[in-house]
Amino acid sequence: MGRDDDGGEEYLFKVVIIGDSAVGKSNLLSRYARNEFNPHSKATIGVEFQTQSMEIDGKEIKAQIWDTAGQERFRAVTSAYYRGAVGALVVYDISRRTTFDSVARWLQELETHSDSTIARILVGNKCDLENIREVPVEEGKELAEEQGLFFMETSALDSTNVKTAFEIVIKEIY
Ligand code: GTP
Ligand code: MG
Repeated sequence: MGRDDDGGEEYLFKVVIIGDSAVGKSNLLSRYARNEFNPHSKATIGVEFQTQSMEIDGKEIKAQIWDTAGQERFRAVTSAYYRGAVGALVVYDISRRTTFDSVARWLQELETHSDSTIARILVGNKCDLENIREVPVEEGKELAEEQGLFFMETSALDSTNVKTAFEIVIKEIY
């Protein structure tokens, strides 16, 4: 906690986004932080982050949101990526079952590298692709419940629930 220019309290939280390649992690972040979507985005190499502010109870909350590569060969040092994180979005693509199957592995990695009190949400992205859905909403919900995570289906393309998903985590931390 620090002080901002008006002498008010200021909070800065680190939040990480994880999940398989091409589930839409970078687009969720760009939709949330800049209201942008890129239909031809390239795989992330290394680590990127964006800072986004929100107000809760009249206090300014800043979330520093980190995004890394889903592909192993493009990933940066894992321990550094998770260091200090107090929130996490674990993302899969509702139109690709394999990305949902990987969630257990991502949760395992998160557990290895972060504090047990970290706020976590399971995010089923690309819910605009209802016609080619491979993972029913119920399955996502059940897994989240089983593992004690919040749950939300989102679409970075049409903006559904993107803000809500990030803010659930940030509010839980705060
Ligand atoms: P890595 O950086 O390789 O880990 O991938 P990523 O998880 O960051 O995925 P990225 O955001 O680059 O998106 C991959 C592809 O999915 C891109 O072509 C996006 O345009 C597309 N995409 C992302 N979100 C959505 C969504 O909500 N709906 C649809 N239909 N496409 C999406
Ligand atoms: Mg990316």
